[in-house]
Parts: sequence; C-alpha cells; structure tokens
Amino acid sequence: MKIAVLGSGMVGRSLGAGLVRHGHTVVMGTRDPGQERVATWVGETGTGAAAATYDEAAKSCDMACLVTSWDGAENALELAGAANLAGKIVVDVTNPLGFGPAGPHLVIGHTDSAGEQVQRWLPESRVVKTWNTVNHAQMIDPHIPGGPADMFLCGDDPDAKSVIVGLLGDCGWPSIDAGGIEAARLLEPLAILWVGYAISHGTTDHAFKLLRG
Ligand SMILES: NC(=O)c1ccc[n+]([C@@H]2O[C@H](COP(=O)([O-])OP(=O)(O)OC[C@H]3O[C@@H](n4cnc5c(N)ncnc54)[C@H](OP(=O)(O)O)[C@@H]3O)[C@@H](O)[C@H]2O)c1
Repeated sequence: MKIAVLGSGMVGRSLGAGLVRHGHTVVMGTRDPGQERVATWVGETGTGAAAATYDEAAKSCDMACLVTSWDGAENALELAGAANLAGKIVVDVTNPLGFGPAGPHLVIGHTDSAGEQVQRWLPESRVVKTWNTVNHAQMIDPHIPGGPADMFLCGDDPDAKSVIVGLLGDCGWPSIDAGGIEAARLLEPLAILWVGYAISHGTTDHAFKLLRG
C-alpha cells in the first residue's frame, strides 16, 4: 500500500520506517518537507520513503495515519484536505494530551474522544483508532517482555478494521476490536495509564494484554 504518515514526530518516523520495512511505500506529510529531521528520515529509510506537504501526501496515498500532536491535528487535517482523504482509511494514532503541572492528562474524555473528533473532521473517511497505547518504537515488530501484548482498535467501518487487523498482524500485533469509533473513549485513557506507568517505572517497553479463556 501507499501509506501517508501525517506528521514527522517520533511516531511518524518510527511508524513510517517500520511500514517501509514491511514493503509499503510511505510518504511523510509535514508542513515543511525540507526540514532537517524529515530529510534525514527520508535518507536513512531509503527506497520506499518520501516526504511531501500534508496536501500532496493525502492526495497520493491509499491510506493515511494521523500522527500529529493533538493540538496540531485539526490544522494538519485542514492542510491535508478532507476531500483528499475521502473514502480512504485514516488510522488515528493521536492521544488528546494536555501537559500541566500535574503531568500529562486527557483534554477530551468520557463523553467524546479524539477518535470521534477525527471522524467528524473527516466525515467521508473510514477512521480506525489504534497504535495509541504503545511507545512509538514498539509499533512495528514489537518486543515486549512477557509479550506478545495486544493492540486495541476501534472504528465504525468493518472493512476498514479488517484491513487494519491484517496490517497489525503483519507488523507483529495480535489485535482486539473494541467496537465503533466511540470506543476511542476507552482506548485514549489507556494511553494515560501507559504514560503514568512509564513515568513511575522509568520504562517504555510495556503494553497491554487482555487475558481470556
Ligand atoms: N510518542 C509516542 O511514543 C506515542 C505513542 C502513541 C501515540 N502517540 C501520539 O501520536 C501523536 C504523535 O506523537 P509524536 O510524539 O510523534 O509527535 P508530536 O511531537 O506530538 O507531533 C509532531 C507532529 O505534529 C505536527 N504538528 C504540530 N503542530 C502542528 C500544527 N499546528 N499543524 C500541523 N501539524 C502540526 C508536526 O508537524 P510538522 O511535521 O509540520 O512539523 C509534527 O509532525 C501524538 O498525538 C501522541 O500523543 C505518541
């Protein structure tokens, strides 16, 4: 697949490089395709990696992954253009985090979620929320001590979720379908649980698993 990673942060670079390793063509969408970290990522990732504006990346891809900071997400999607993503799967990896004296916290929750907001911003796209409950370095081919862990996903379009279940499986993740996109209200607080454990235990290689009989 030709996959756009919309964002050039740690997640965009790790996820993008991992997807290239798995045979996909990845175009990194960014406000500035010429910025140093993006040029370095393209050079280091090699064949199959490219950078473009959000608009060009969204237009040219088969599916996209939204990997911006939450406060940049709306602007990034405006720049990408909802029409360019219409009908396409958009994987929402964001967490709606705010940062205050008490540490990271959710700025949306209980009665709404980032996943639902992304689906409202992109009404003609098929939004699937996943990959938000693990460190960027573990998103592709994870090595979780005591694993394999599980990756939760949710979204309203069964066919889109089926594609993402396949992609997650190819990338080393057993997955659990948590339901429609409103289940992002449950997946996003898990990220805060993940962050709290990371801070208190000084680790980033932890993840969640659902034990079942
Ligand atoms: N870090 C992790 O391990 C991890 C794990 C799971 C989920 N997440 C979530 O994944 C997302 C990405 O995390 P991250 O750590 O890679 O990166 P980040 O530093 O949170 O975000 C960087 C990206 O956001 C874009 N951005 C920021 N403000 C923008 C604006 N006003 N308009 C357009 N784009 C804007 C930047 O765009 P430019 O390229 O244009 O500069 C950059 O690509 C976050 O929502 C985070 O909560 C992170």
